[in-house]
Amino acid sequence: MKSLTRNLSKKKAIIGVIGLGYVGLPRCIQFLKSNFKVYGFENDSNKIFLLKKKKSYLSNLSNKTLKKFSKNFIVTKNYNLISKVDVIIICLPTPIKKSFAPDLSIVKKSFNKIKKHLRENQAISFESTTYPGTTEELLLPYLKKKFNVGKNFYLIYSPERDDPGLKLNNKKIPKLVSGYSNKCLLVGKKIYGSVIDKPIEVSSIKVAEMAKLYENIFRSINISLANETKIILKKLNIDMSEVINAAKSKPFGFMPFFPGPGYGGHCIPVDPFYFIWLAKKYGLKSKFIELSGKINNSIPEWICKQIKIELNKKLKKSFDCKVLILGVAYKKNINDDRESPAYRLIEILTKKFKCKVSFYDPYIKKVNNLRLKNFNNKSIQLSKNRIKSFDYGILVTDHDHLDYDKIRKNIKLLFDTRNLKYLNGNNIIKL
Ligand SMILES: NC(=O)c1ccc[n+]([C@@H]2O[C@H](COP(=O)([O-])OP(=O)(O)OC[C@H]3O[C@@H](n4cnc5c(N)ncnc54)[C@H](O)[C@@H]3O)[C@@H](O)[C@H]2O)c1
Repeated sequence: MKSLTRNLSKKKAIIGVIGLGYVGLPRCIQFLKSNFKVYGFENDSNKIFLLKKKKSYLSNLSNKTLKKFSKNFIVTKNYNLISKVDVIIICLPTPIKKSFAPDLSIVKKSFNKIKKHLRENQAISFESTTYPGTTEELLLPYLKKKFNVGKNFYLIYSPERDDPGLKLNNKKIPKLVSGYSNKCLLVGKKIYGSVIDKPIEVSSIKVAEMAKLYENIFRSINISLANETKIILKKLNIDMSEVINAAKSKPFGFMPFFPGPGYGGHCIPVDPFYFIWLAKKYGLKSKFIELSGKINNSIPEWICKQIKIELNKKLKKSFDCKVLILGVAYKKNINDDRESPAYRLIEILTKKFKCKVSFYDPYIKKVNNLRLKNFNNKSIQLSKNRIKSFDYGILVTDHDHLDYDKIRKNIKLLFDTRNLKYLNGNNIIKL
């Protein structure tokens, strides 16, 4: 342990990061900024190609930053190099299956490749979000066969908490750290203490795994509460944003969550289902959490229904028209469109209502994961004439860099699912 912690203190330890996506690539940069040498393991050839050309594919990471740290950054597909690194940080996707059960196949496959190259005095830190028990079920049995874990090998779990859209300094975000044993925990604190101001120690890996799930379940439930309340308040003719603003003046016991077009991303629509699945395994039903998923997933349908009602009132015209979707990213100022509610909206509009749908998103030039008819999968140019050519628009993502003035002046009708304060006029309908 001493040689590993000494090398971490002297920044001589080599850090390996598996999976260079939204979590893994910023993690590499964090260690590079602290003068560590980093090996990034990635299996997407296009990502490797771009990184070797010092081109970023993340909206919150500039080419300039990549270039600045490229000297100490080796990007590879070659798992043989695992034996060269001292710390292995796993940042792989943990999606759900169609049945809503956890899909850990990517982590399992990757660990099968990693394990052949492990050696004494290394540490593995698992950062992917998952249900309590995963780290010890998936990684520990093999490690125990090959090593004396806690004595000559170290197992850590430390969930990720970054918020890509907010541009928070990830050094300042307190990070949970847990270990299989006290020594593993000490190594974990040493690793993350080199790049983070406040590593927060918890007593077991299961607690850290569950804390991360709980954070995201909390968000899912509160988002669904905001969405459901908004729907009711619309009928009662009470302004939801004014209600939230009034309630948030309470300096304790309240935290504002905002309604919107549904929810998206790799975390909130996915992670609660890990817990629901685990509860079921133990013969228990988490009704409350399941309901929040149902409510959030039903919002795109509700939006389409409202649009239909408004169009019937306003235009006295059938629903099959040309529609502009503004923003397909699941949240503002990022290029992440995973599980975006925009796609559910597009699906309903094209399939059910036979609309012709185009989109504009300053962060996403082309949509690849849709094979829908009547959908233009390349982002349009947002010219005045192009905006004018649509029957109506739907604001899905409230990116800061949208030209709201141009949109407002030229769009015939706009449905605003984000309730933006500065977007007002006779042609704007708040949903
Ligand atoms: N995105 C977020 O904001 C966020 C926040 C907190 C936690 N998380 C969690 O972090 C984990 C990673 O999420 P992400 O958003 O970074 O996912 P991602 O899909 O952006 O990144 C994962 C990367 O791993 C690569 N990959 C897949 N299989 C591989 C293999 N066998 N070897 C090497 N690379 C491989 C993929 O090509 C991809 O680049 C998930 O468990 C997620 O729930 C994500």
